[in-house]
Amino acid sequence: VGQNLVILKEVASTNNYLKDLLSNSKPVADGTVIMAESQFAGRGQQTNRWHSEAGKNLTFSLLLKPGFLALQQQFDLTRVISLGVVTGLQQATGLPVQIKWPNDIYVGEKKLGGILIENLVQGSTIKNSVIGIGLNINQESFPPEVPNPTSVKQILQKDYDLNVLLSQICGYIEAWYLKLKAGRLDEIREHYLANLYWLNHEHKFMSDDGVIFTGTITAVRNNGFLVLSTKSGEKEFTLKQIQFLNK
Ligand code: BTN
Repeated sequence: VGQNLVILKEVASTNNYLKDLLSNSKPVADGTVIMAESQFAGRGQQTNRWHSEAGKNLTFSLLLKPGFLALQQQFDLTRVISLGVVTGLQQATGLPVQIKWPNDIYVGEKKLGGILIENLVQGSTIKNSVIGIGLNINQESFPPEVPNPTSVKQILQKDYDLNVLLSQICGYIEAWYLKLKAGRLDEIREHYLANLYWLNHEHKFMSDDGVIFTGTITAVRNNGFLVLSTKSGEKEFTLKQIQFLNK
């Protein structure tokens, strides 16, 4: 991962750039990383935008070809990518970085980064997985419209070399991805849970019908559903069905 590295000064979105290469049948090697110093149309999950100050942060996309992975196992790919990013950041910065289900990157109650995985499916396997990763590293302040952001700089008052950090994170992503290839699912699932934000603590949530309730995250299903224990029993949610309410 990251042996093949393309650095772009400016691009709309590194995910789109990689998908365009693939749809024009350009040969792109497994593990290729496209990194941008700045994106003018960075995308987040669910039609959100991804804001990042030019030259300050990591915004990159990685191509993996997980042909060995059945479609029903998609969420294990989400798990290993999240684990690679989180363990890489923990090692490089010493910060208590966590995974907010399904794949946001949190420190304390604030969002340090996010992941946007776009799987291109062929038959019953994932032919190409375009994995976009945005991490706030050296940015000092954020525009007010960005919800709940933080950066390594805001927390540690220290700048990090983006190229060094990128190669460290790619190393950890590769290590976790190789565990997935080797079928070490128990280890992957256990570590994903161990790094999960709000696990086993009671918090407030809002379901898609606007109802606010209290629940405790107890598990994540293998299809990626979030499991909450509530006073009316155990409930499962998809990303569109639930919001975490801070305080
Ligand atoms: C999210 O938290 O909603 C996901 C954010 C993903 C942002 C990254 S930055 C690199 C790649 N290119 C994009 O347009 N988005 C992803």
